[in-house]
Amino acid sequence: MTITQLKKQFLEHLEEKYPMEEVLSFFHLLAEHYLKLSRLQMALEPNKVLNDAEIGQFKDALEKLKVFEPIQYIIGETEFFSLNFKVAPGVLIPRPETEELVQWILDEISLQQKQDLQILDIGTGSGCIPISLKKHLPKAQISAIDISEEALKIAKINAEKNEVSVEFIQQNILSAEKLPLQFDLIVSNPPYVRELEKAEMHQNVLRYEPETALYVKDENPLLFYKKITKLAQEGLAKNGLLFFEINQYLGVETEMMVTDHGFETALRKDMFGNFRMLKARKL
Ligand SMILES: C[S@@+](CC[C@H](N)C(=O)[O-])C[C@H]1O[C@@H](n2cnc3c(N)ncnc32)[C@H](O)[C@@H]1O
Repeated sequence: MTITQLKKQFLEHLEEKYPMEEVLSFFHLLAEHYLKLSRLQMALEPNKVLNDAEIGQFKDALEKLKVFEPIQYIIGETEFFSLNFKVAPGVLIPRPETEELVQWILDEISLQQKQDLQILDIGTGSGCIPISLKKHLPKAQISAIDISEEALKIAKINAEKNEVSVEFIQQNILSAEKLPLQFDLIVSNPPYVRELEKAEMHQNVLRYEPETALYVKDENPLLFYKKITKLAQEGLAKNGLLFFEINQYLGVETEMMVTDHGFETALRKDMFGNFRMLKARKL
């Protein structure tokens, strides 16, 4: 079978399940991953003949895509902030909105003189936030907490893969009485999706991504933000910064809660126009 024939079959099988643009992007990602062929190389070699093993890999991926398994879990990797990260079902797939949060932090730090900062990431998942920060702030000391052993295993692999050093700590932040030391900057993208929001989520997220990474109870959606803000009152140095990724529907409530704890705050919208990030300075 040639690559053009395989592509045709692939598109036919998935066209009713996903928008065509997305199916094409899946095909190109798989070709890059399994065949090490870029889009251009594929266009230049449309009659390249594939062997049985290669066809088998595409067929397996096709079956998984039919039941909405995320492409990132199928190929076992994703890109975040121009770096490569291993991902697997025990860890949240990093989102582009979180890249915007990392960029905001770097912009803010570039305005300061101090580069040897103590930074803490709470709920690190794949380690995408601390690893991207460390890559751009080599003098910073960065620690990262997660409750999940599986996530931390992957985060450690990602730190090695990207050749940075981050201290990973397994801890339930909700039962922490205080932070291990004083930080200049604390960042967190904690679980924030309410059960009532599940109706608007895609099957690929609902079926495959870890529940502990995503959901909070409808009655107490700011649980993590309240706990982290409280810990930051003592755990942040004076003028220290707290950055949150937030639930787009709870921007005002989140901001009010943080302000009430003695911080000066600013909300920011993401590329989709939703209030998605909050910066707070300890006064
Ligand atoms: C929304 S995910 C964010 C992952 C990653 N920082 C990112 O931006 O892609 C939230 C993370 O918080 C972790 N988490 C959930 N409950 C926690 C708890 N009680 N203490 C510490 N981490 C927790 C989850 O395991 C998950 O990795």
